[in-house]
Formats: sequence, C-alpha cells, structure tokens
Amino acid sequence: MLEKLTPQPPDKIIELIGMYRADPRTEKVDLGVGVYKDEKGATPVMRAVKAAEKRLLESQTSKSYVGLLGDLDFNAAMRGLVLGDAVPAGRVAAAQAPGGTGAIRQLLELVKLANPGAKVWYSDPTWPNHPAMVRHVGLASATYRYFDSATCTVDFAAMMADLDGLSAGDVVILHGCCHNPTGANLDAAQWDQVTDLLNAKGAIPFIDFAYQGFGDGLDADAAAVRRMVTRVPQMLIAASCSKNFGLYRDRVGIAMAVAQDAATADLAKGALSSLNRLNFSFPPDHGAKVVEIILNDPELRADWQAELEEMRTRMLELRAGLAEALRRETNSDSFDFVAHHRGMFSRLGLSQEQVMKLREESGIYMVGDSRVNIAGLPADKLDALAKAIVRVAG
Ligand code: LMR
Repeated sequence: MLEKLTPQPPDKIIELIGMYRADPRTEKVDLGVGVYKDEKGATPVMRAVKAAEKRLLESQTSKSYVGLLGDLDFNAAMRGLVLGDAVPAGRVAAAQAPGGTGAIRQLLELVKLANPGAKVWYSDPTWPNHPAMVRHVGLASATYRYFDSATCTVDFAAMMADLDGLSAGDVVILHGCCHNPTGANLDAAQWDQVTDLLNAKGAIPFIDFAYQGFGDGLDADAAAVRRMVTRVPQMLIAASCSKNFGLYRDRVGIAMAVAQDAATADLAKGALSSLNRLNFSFPPDHGAKVVEIILNDPELRADWQAELEEMRTRMLELRAGLAEALRRETNSDSFDFVAHHRGMFSRLGLSQEQVMKLREESGIYMVGDSRVNIAGLPADKLDALAKAIVRVAG
C-alpha cells in the first residue's frame, strides 16, 4: 500500500525553515516563517504565559479529559477577545481547536457537512495552506484578485469584480486583519462594501484571524470583524493564539460559527463537537488553559497586552526603518508601502528570481513570492538589507 504514495508537494513556508537552518553562513537573515522575533532574534515565552504556566503547574490536580469542545471558559474568553459584545453569546458556537490551522480545518469540514456543494473563495494571493486545505477537504474553490503588485496595495476594484461571481451558499475566506502574505488591508468602508456584496449574494464570510494585536492594536484589529458580525446572518471565524500569545507549538486556536439564532448555533455546536471527536477527540488543553488564565486575570491580562503592544510597536518601527532605508537607497517613495502595510508581513513585489538571488548571494531568506517577516528584520542592518534588495530589484 505505502508504495502507492506519491511525493506530496512541500509547503513553501515550512520548506524555507529547513533551508535557512542548513545555511552555514553566519550573516544570514531569516525573513521566512511567521514567527515573532525580538531584537536578539529570539522568540521568547511571553511574561504572562510564564506566570500563568507557573500558576497552572501549582494548581492543576488532574490531566483527565476536558470536553470535546475544549475548555468552555477558554472559548468564552476568546469569544470576548475576538468579538467583544458585538453579538449575543447564544448565537456563537465555539470549539477549541489545535491552533489556527486546526480551527480552519474544522470549519472547512463544517462547511462540507452543511453544504458539500459550497465553493470556497480565497484571495489571490493568500496563505498557501488555505488552497491546500480546501483541496484536501474536497471542497470546490475559486480565487478573487486582491493585490496590485505594481503599487503593493489592495486592488479593491478587482476584488469586488471577482466576488461579483459569488453564488448563494459560497464561502469567502477573508483575513480579519494583517493580510498574509501581502500586508495590505481593507479599510472600514471597503469592509462594509464587501459585507453588502456578500449579503446580496447570500455568501458566508469565513474570517481567518491569526494576527489580532499585530496590526493597529487588539481592538482596532478586531473592529472589522466586530462590525461585520452585526451585519451578517452567519459567519465563520478561525482565531489563533500562536502569534499574539506566542504559543506556536502548544497549538491553541478556536473555531467559531456565528448563526442567526440560538437554535441554529446549537446545531453548529453539535457538529463542531462531533468533528472534534472524529479528528482528534479532545483539543490540547495546556496552552488554552494558559490563555484562559491570562484573559480572566486583570493583572496578567494587562501585562500580556503591554508585551504584545511592545511587539507590535517594534514591528512598526522596523517597517518605518526599512521603508526609510529603501527610500534613501532608491531615491524614491516606491517602497513606502512597507511603512503603510500592517501585521507581520509585507510582500515586496520582487520576482521569484530576485528572491533566489537574495538567498544565494546575500543569505537573505524570504518566501518565494517576496513575503518578508517584518519581525525578522535586523534593526542594525536595515541599510545593508535595503542595498541588497535594491541591487537585485534594479
Ligand atoms: C506563516 O504564514 O508563516 C505562519 O502562519 C506559519 C505557518 O504555519 O505557515
């Protein structure tokens, strides 16, 4: 049987981690996978996480199963973090999931269960795991144009033109904030127009929400989702705690299905519970419990928010620094978009060949589509980096 397997296409982002590690050059720069790094290039455990883990270690008396939907207090706290009080709790079916990826996967399976004929739309470009998972789950897909690579901004006219092709029941994946890979985001008025279009077509928004707190702040980043949820009958949301709590390897996420009424939400809750059982039974508890402790303890929560804010402002400074260095180097404002983008990533608009050249000649690693992880930028080498970028781009 096993000999019938064919090699699977590697995930471009994960592949890059291995290539970077194998590069012996000491001056190499890692702008690949979306992991936050501090000025020393480390990804430390956040202070509030350490404190909550200590508390958990001392107080936990059992490792027995929790429940198929996970820790209900975590689910309630995450509903609050993401949605605030924008929607009554009774309309939200929430299930803990192993990371943001696990939440996306469970929600795609929920779509398949509810409406196997639904077509799932995602932006072109998007996070490469979106198309891969939609394909794997066996749902039909379509793309909508999103990015104008000449200006490195959202091509909103093209996006709306493509979404005009939506059919009733289709599902549209939208990045709630901090678009991955481009860094270019919709403004509030554009979100409203997308909401109106989806409502007119009878399509359902599916929000991938992996970077809350990395763009303009915890609440500002959730503003679009919170407004949209008040204006649509149904919505799916996959939220991740990998980045904003730095809990990457602990796999902490939540799948939420917002329904038009409590009875429908109950149906969705039953389906999510069953899907958890079918895929892994119980979601991993440790990281979720840590998040729940932090969110429900005012002191820990304040410290977590302060540290998250330090991370966010550091990324903004790096954005400004790189844009400034590129401005000096090119004598133009053609890279100013780096300072205007938000979140962990920016797509620089380089060709695959130029990206390869940067890797081979200068040991600068970015994803093949020229996505850079802003947190990986070396603050003391921005000029050298700008020089290398302009050298290949010129
Ligand atoms: C990324 O886009 O780099 C992150 O979301 C990590 C991942 O799993 O791909």
